[in-house]
Amino acid sequence: MPGRVDGKVAFITGAGRGQGRSHAVRLAQEGADIIAIDICHDVEGALPMATAEDLAETAKMVEALDRRIVTHQADVRDLDALKAALDDGVEQLGRLDIVLASAGVAMMGGRTDKMSLGSWTHTIDINLTGVWNSARVAIPHLLAGGRGGAIVLTSSVGGERAMPYMGHYISAKHGVIGLMRSLAVELGQHNIRVNSVLPTNVNTPMFMNQGLFRAWRPDLENPTADDILPIAQAQHLLPIDWVEPVDISNAILFLVSDEARYITGIELPVDAGTLLK
Ligand SMILES: NC(=O)c1ccc[n+]([C@@H]2O[C@H](COP(=O)([O-])OP(=O)(O)OC[C@H]3O[C@@H](n4cnc5c(N)ncnc54)[C@H](O)[C@@H]3O)[C@@H](O)[C@H]2O)c1
Repeated sequence: MPGRVDGKVAFITGAGRGQGRSHAVRLAQEGADIIAIDICHDVEGALPMATAEDLAETAKMVEALDRRIVTHQADVRDLDALKAALDDGVEQLGRLDIVLASAGVAMMGGRTDKMSLGSWTHTIDINLTGVWNSARVAIPHLLAGGRGGAIVLTSSVGGERAMPYMGHYISAKHGVIGLMRSLAVELGQHNIRVNSVLPTNVNTPMFMNQGLFRAWRPDLENPTADDILPIAQAQHLLPIDWVEPVDISNAILFLVSDEARYITGIELPVDAGTLLK
């Protein structure tokens, strides 16, 4: 049986681990070849990023599915590096159909008047300008292919509503939705669809880390994932604490497949109902 994205090529940012890796594997299971990039070095003030070994592991997982993958270390803030990586991937794999802008960071927050300029700037540069860069390098390839295409920009439930002390992240994720709508309006005539996914808590290092546990349970000295369960569950309508990366990948797979051929310009929450609470 043919896969749901058979013969297509997908460009995925932040593919070294977490959701980006999961998207690479899930799309490869459905027949796509992958162009995967990740920064593979740390950014001041952010959690440790994926490593070169992580990105190599993503490649192994895709190749184990008999699909091709081209990997490059590139920072989404660096337009030239991103362009060079994607151009090389398209040259090797022959085409581009799907673009998934998943790379992102969660930096130290704080009340707006106390947040450092560095924290604000790094977050906006990676989580918003990085997404804009990813679209900018990909659009010429999609247009040149003449076959249309599908772009999914990863926002967050924080793209729809605010949380305290996260003004940088919330602003960037709201901005991603504005960018998604702008791209949908501009590219629809070329049969290029553009949508966003809005995840709730996802079981990846961005969520599962000591800094977040401490922020949520400042009353405990060494909180663990178990200690945040009641808070995490209370966020959702469904009786769960967080979702798995593959839950986001499955939503994205739908959006980029022909099953969603007339869907463009939407925000798709994968949020266990949190936006209704
Ligand atoms: N984990 C969650 O709870 C959650 C919830 C809502 C939205 N999101 C969003 O989902 C996306 C994926 O996050 P994740 O959960 O997989 O987290 P993650 O930290 O596991 O993965 C993020 C990946 O992006 C890469 N990256 C970071 N900055 C980069 C840069 N400048 N250039 C290239 N690569 C870079 C990292 O190395 C890492 O591999 C992010 O945009 C995040 O904001 C996450």
